[in-house]
Amino acid sequence: MGKLYSMKKALLIAEDEETTLSLLRDVFDRPDLVVHEARTGGEAIRIIDQNPVDVVLTDLKMPGPDGLAVLAHARKTHPDTEVILMTGHATVESAVNAMKMGAFHYITKPFSVDEVVQLVDRVLELTSVRKENTNLRTLVRGQGGLENIIGVSDPIKEVLSLVRKVADTNSTVLITGESGTGKELVARAVHYLSPRSYRMLVPINCSAIPAELLESELFGHVKGAFTGAHITRAGKFETAHNGTIFLDEIGEMSPHLQVKLLRVLQEKSVTPVGGNKPIPVDVRVIAATNKDLEEEVAEGRFRPDLYFRLNVIPIRIPPLRERKEDIPVLAAHFIERYDREKGRYLEGIRKDALEMLQRYPWPGNVRELENLVERIVVLKGHGWIETADLPEKIRRSEKFLKTAVPVLGESGLDIRAATSEFETALLRQALHIANGNKNRAATLLGLKRTTLVEMLKRKQIDEREPHPRSS
Ligand SMILES: Nc1ncnc2c1ncn2[C@@H]1O[C@H](COP(=O)(O)OP(=O)(O)OP(=O)(O)O)[C@@H](O)[C@H]1O
Ligand SMILES: [Mg+2]
Repeated sequence: MGKLYSMKKALLIAEDEETTLSLLRDVFDRPDLVVHEARTGGEAIRIIDQNPVDVVLTDLKMPGPDGLAVLAHARKTHPDTEVILMTGHATVESAVNAMKMGAFHYITKPFSVDEVVQLVDRVLELTSVRKENTNLRTLVRGQGGLENIIGVSDPIKEVLSLVRKVADTNSTVLITGESGTGKELVARAVHYLSPRSYRMLVPINCSAIPAELLESELFGHVKGAFTGAHITRAGKFETAHNGTIFLDEIGEMSPHLQVKLLRVLQEKSVTPVGGNKPIPVDVRVIAATNKDLEEEVAEGRFRPDLYFRLNVIPIRIPPLRERKEDIPVLAAHFIERYDREKGRYLEGIRKDALEMLQRYPWPGNVRELENLVERIVVLKGHGWIETADLPEKIRRSEKFLKTAVPVLGESGLDIRAATSEFETALLRQALHIANGNKNRAATLLGLKRTTLVEMLKRKQIDEREPHPRSS
């Protein structure tokens, strides 16, 4: 097969009425398409089984098996093939039925040529995105299941059991946890254990895309909707149809988009930017955030109605310092993995070094541990990890533990100033560990939130300071 040919997409038109068939034949006579024709449902099914077909455009009423039977067959045997149904006015009910059965879309006769071309192009774009995604997926080893989530602690076991329980439902899942705790890993496990795993998991990072662009990324846009919108583009929700969308860093979404997202979730349809026709979508939503959304709601930055709509099944992943039993197994797992990947022969970790790792608070959580192990595996290459191999930062925090109380010398000290310094250091540490989240920082110090806020104000500490000044 030549390269040019392999880039062509295949369209099957199943239609028993000669005039419609010949109209569609003319419309789709294009260099980028191979077009197959069927005049009965049985013929359509045979073509689907014997040829690669990207899109099926099928009439609902045909001799023999009807359009719904063609759809059911394609869904079952060729999950990557998308089906668009053409229906008469009187059969809106079957159209709704068709969407439930996994049709990409339906179109009501009589339709305009533009309408049908736009729809087919949208599917074609979707199928090429999906192919890229599949290629990537086979490259990245072990994307999916629970076996990638390592841990022996009770909280991690609880997370795993929740994932198993929610996977086969369509319920919205909200994953919370500090940065690097494994939110994306858990989101993937939910999708790949679900009946939707044969369709796409479409991730979108709400904080990585400028607010003005995010709307069209999510919901798509029509040609000419704004400067630069030269073609009609499907949004992530459409791409995720019958699959799962992963809305990462949902806490960063602008209030304006929060309203639109809520509407999409309630109405189960998206309206592209510049468009006026809602497109039905069947998408499971998994959202994640490292913010405390309840606090965001309390401070008026996140809509309560959207919060409740997303928080149907909350999965909280505790920070690594709250499940120190996981540190030895995680470290062993990463040593084995990077030994294999980098061609090194590290044996393991000495007891005292491991204990040091278990005392360290891990503000960057599992990701920080993974990066550290990778670095040591590469640089050391063989033997055992010793305390001397651990970075200054980790050894220094040890020293801090031991010398928290200053040594009182002959010259004496001002106890109030010393105590105040001590408080400041603890406040900064708590904020750092809590990622600036005041509720969590207060909990860490056994304070009420209001007390903490007051202390911060008095000491003029800015909770957004990126790093604590080391004491
Ligand atoms: N329980 C775990 N077992 C094995 N690997 C883990 C575990 N938790 C996290 N990791 C690894 O740590 C890294 C960070 O995980 P992930 O990207 O899922 O975190 P996150 O919570 O989404 O972080 P962020 O908030 O920064 O996006 C990944 O390389 C992931 O594979
Ligand atoms: Mg993440």
